[in-house]
Amino acid sequence: MQKYSGMLIALILVISMFAAGMAIAEGTLTMGTNAEFPPFEFVEGDSVIGVDAEIAAEIAKDLGLELVIENMAFDSIIPALTSGQIDIGVAAMTVKPERLNSVDFSDTYYNARQACIVQVGGKAQDSESLKGTTIGVQTGTTGDYAAEEYSEDIQRFAKALDAVLELAGGKLDAVIIDEPVAKNILAALNNPNLTLLDTIEFEDEFYAVAVPKGHPELVESINNTIERITTDGTLDAILLKYFPAEEEPASEEIAQP
Ligand code: ARG
Repeated sequence: MQKYSGMLIALILVISMFAAGMAIAEGTLTMGTNAEFPPFEFVEGDSVIGVDAEIAAEIAKDLGLELVIENMAFDSIIPALTSGQIDIGVAAMTVKPERLNSVDFSDTYYNARQACIVQVGGKAQDSESLKGTTIGVQTGTTGDYAAEEYSEDIQRFAKALDAVLELAGGKLDAVIIDEPVAKNILAALNNPNLTLLDTIEFEDEFYAVAVPKGHPELVESINNTIERITTDGTLDAILLKYFPAEEEPASEEIAQP
């Protein structure tokens, strides 16, 4: 019965997407992402892999569609959704009230927060000394918005890694990006001169899949997949694959807001 209603939802979805002229009608589900954000999305060889690519594969599987991934700038994802270039945005994207004016979001699948990377013994050591410093961010991200609260001197990068490399080279005082990505990049660079500031408490942020406005069947189908992979252990297995064991988030951290 459950299988039957799932198939029915998929059928209604394909018909309504066809009517809306979305790519779904051609048997594909096109996901837009910015694969500069390990471990959520990054390029390995010719492929985009990571937590989000695997979640999107589960969504496509439940819809009986083939997943196609389009890699683009992070701040191009919402315009690509509103113009119909892509069907879903899966990019460690935080649910923000401003974004809800342009797109809809699925249920959330991950709880993160911002983090601030600084030089050991550098100028920025806490929220007071961070003020007015030169802060690097990835363009259009919540880290970009968070940095605006501390400084007007913000350097925006297309890639999170490039910002951290500029910090390592002494051209920035701090970088504000999502904590799991900050930890991933720091572990990869293994630079003893860089560290995470533990004196600033950033707010919780919740990642969700972004969908063009006006497609409730698609949102419902994505929510069903998120519920399935949360309860059957698939999501935990995906997270375990991409996070070093000691950073594996407790499942209660992946709560809904
Ligand atoms: N969570 C942050 C936001 O929504 C950053 C996401 C960046 N994602 C990416 N794939 N580059 O703004």
